[in-house]
Amino acid sequence: MHTFTILPVRGLSKAPATDRTTFREDVIRGLTGTPKRLDSKYFYDAVGDKLFQDIMQLPEYYLTGCELEILSGQTREIIHAIQAHTGDFDLVELGAGDATKTRFLLRDLLDEGVDFTYFPIDISTNVIRSLEEYLPAELPALRYKGLNGEYFEMLRAAGALSRKHKVVLLMGANIGNFHPAEALQFCQAIREQLQPGDLLLIGFDLKKDPRVILEAYNDRQGVTKAFNLNLLTRINRELGADFHLDDFEHFPTYDPLSGSCKSYLFSKRAHQVHIGKTVIDFEDNEPVYMEISQKYSLQDAEQMALAAGFKPLVAFQDSRGWFADCLWGVVG
Ligand SMILES: C[S@@+](CC[C@H](N)C(=O)[O-])C[C@H]1O[C@@H](n2cnc3c(N)ncnc32)[C@H](O)[C@@H]1O
Repeated sequence: MHTFTILPVRGLSKAPATDRTTFREDVIRGLTGTPKRLDSKYFYDAVGDKLFQDIMQLPEYYLTGCELEILSGQTREIIHAIQAHTGDFDLVELGAGDATKTRFLLRDLLDEGVDFTYFPIDISTNVIRSLEEYLPAELPALRYKGLNGEYFEMLRAAGALSRKHKVVLLMGANIGNFHPAEALQFCQAIREQLQPGDLLLIGFDLKKDPRVILEAYNDRQGVTKAFNLNLLTRINRELGADFHLDDFEHFPTYDPLSGSCKSYLFSKRAHQVHIGKTVIDFEDNEPVYMEISQKYSLQDAEQMALAAGFKPLVAFQDSRGWFADCLWGVVG
């Protein structure tokens, strides 16, 4: 297991990256629909950011260790593959989080004298502020510009700030947080913003022993449960709701046929919750769909590349073959 520094996240005094009206509309639409659902992009307030960092440290959450093994052990190979397929480039990371793994790549790029700017994009204000605080201390030679907002708005902003080719990073199995059809649309939308000579390095959590996968989302310490329940706390705080966390239980599932790992909160009793003036009825055992973490085979990933207008170039895997960071080139 590799060791790595976890960047501290700040307290609760953060401005929301999406405005409160949109948050309220999304939550009420999700909880009045059938089935009830909440959008996982809202997990990441200051507490959610911290809980996700705790998840990444859990023994059951193998994803971080696998991707760290790739990024720390094969950094030179990744850089050489990038350089073999593009010219001068800037690095744009979608959903950078604390950039724990990316920092290996950043450090080696600097060591090799590569001239680039790093644009970390994240919807969490807190994440971007923390990166802006810690990156200069850790990598003083790094040129970077944090972009706080939604993926595509900020990808456009990065495009306006950089005249070089783009190497876009989508690490940590972020792509798994979309249903496969949405994931394809997401990759197509990235492709539309790129030019021939640009590259995408994208992480896929691969299909494996279903018990290993399920445990990763059902840790013994209950951190993943707390991460899911924290969204209810956020709704209470920001939207004036009256969720009681004790009324809900965390329930993950994994279907080895489809590769879909899904997390639910279910209501332990019939009751009502108020969000401002809106009343939400919960039935006994009613599920709220929280998040998908889709697993892929390498073939699935290659098919997605081709269907989205990319050429699969190289797949970097960890020693157990549990995770792959795939380098795709834009097809002209
Ligand atoms: C699962 S974490 C992964 C972080 C990092 N890529 C890693 O591998 O450790 C997902 C990150 O994406 C960000 N995120 C989620 N939805 C987003 C969106 N729609 N636009 C921009 N960032 C988003 C979250 O704030 C969070 O930091």
